[in-house]
Amino acid sequence: MSNNESQYLSNKYRDEWKDRDQITEDQIEHFIQQYLGELKDGTWKSGGWQHMYTGYSNTKVALNAYTSVLAREVGPETEKVYVNCFNPGFTKTNLNDYQGHNTLEEAAMTGIWLALHPPGGPHGKYLEQQNWGITAW
Ligand SMILES: NC(=O)c1ccc[n+]([C@@H]2O[C@H](COP(=O)([O-])OP(=O)(O)OC[C@H]3O[C@@H](n4cnc5c(N)ncnc54)[C@H](OP(=O)(O)O)[C@@H]3O)[C@@H](O)[C@H]2O)c1
Repeated sequence: MSNNESQYLSNKYRDEWKDRDQITEDQIEHFIQQYLGELKDGTWKSGGWQHMYTGYSNTKVALNAYTSVLAREVGPETEKVYVNCFNPGFTKTNLNDYQGHNTLEEAAMTGIWLALHPPGGPHGKYLEQQNWGITAW
């Protein structure tokens, strides 16, 4: 890998979004538009984007960021709605031609755990797996 190639997001958004409670919808829009612009003009490889499955990865970064925005809009204090996102892990589905490790049942565990969580549970978070806990941004 060259210095420009990163497994992780290494551009300005990594710093700007350090505090996920400060992320705005406008910033997410800008993130998407900047990536699409660099993709079109061919400069994206030096833009600090993740190099593995770049487009897919960026949609997940945006989704994770938007989880935080949406959670602030529909806070559990007022609406009794909890907003989170989670990674089901590498799962045997059509997406990867059934090459994943997790069964569908295993992949669903975090979602079920979140759905059945009593009031006061995670809100605006990204979870890797139930037992691994909440992942820092
Ligand atoms: N599988 C993994 O290892 C893995 C790992 C991490 C995250 N994920 C995430 O988990 C989520 C589900 O993925 P999966 O593995 O279950 O993939 P999948 O087996 O390919 O299923 C994708 C599902 O999304 C539906 N879909 C696709 N495009 C759509 C659209 N434009 N509007 C409405 N529905 C649409 C498909 O509907 P049809 O069947 O009708 O086409 C299908 O039911 C994805 O967000 C994926 O990124 C998966």
